[in-house]
Amino acid sequence: MGILAPSILSADFSNLSQQIRYAEIGGADWIHCDVMDGKFVPVRKITKLPIDVHLMIEKPDSLIKDFIRAGADYITVHQEEVVHLHRTVEFIKQEGSKAGIAVNPATPVDTLSEILPFIDLVLIMSVNPGFGGQSFITTSLNKIKQLNQMRKDKDYKFLIEVDGGISSKNIVEIMDSGCDVFVAGSSIFSNDNISAAAAELKNLITPDKRQGN
Ligand code: DX5
Ligand code: ZN
Repeated sequence: MGILAPSILSADFSNLSQQIRYAEIGGADWIHCDVMDGKFVPVRKITKLPIDVHLMIEKPDSLIKDFIRAGADYITVHQEEVVHLHRTVEFIKQEGSKAGIAVNPATPVDTLSEILPFIDLVLIMSVNPGFGGQSFITTSLNKIKQLNQMRKDKDYKFLIEVDGGISSKNIVEIMDSGCDVFVAGSSIFSNDNISAAAAELKNLITPDKRQGN
């Protein structure tokens, strides 16, 4: 069963706790928080779900402790932004969080081979980072398949997360390529019925339910 991680980047911040509640009712498993300016929206008090923090900032090391203290369960940093990736990953884990590495659309997954044994999650960006509502870059599917193969070959346990342009139209194909965690922003929060939109995606990544439909 896939993990659904609504991205609050597309949520209505004046009504955030209710919007998160609606997503939970629809079946959200995690809450995905994008950090682009060093500021973390304080969602720990709003939800008991795991908080998945995606740091899209340069030199994230100095902020990691603060994000973990603020309640992050997963901290993901960009491979393109961190020079001493192994050191950063070990620091995140030592501070008590799970560690993830994100790769932008133009970064091949091969570049991760040396860090894979140490991490809990790989985030494949399927749009260029920055904002919600962009189209899924279809070449990401090959990257997911390739990474899934690398995981099988070495029997690694990290999760594969995909972020950007996920909707009910492509989520099954993304799952079939090997994705475990599905980040969805606009396809959930830009909908009048947030719970129904989340439930539709959650059902599609829950194979038993799909067959029952
Ligand atoms: C993009 C962010 C995403 C974003 C996805 O820079 O990392 O998490 O919220 O939004 P959608 O699902 O609308 O593509
Ligand atoms: Zn994100």
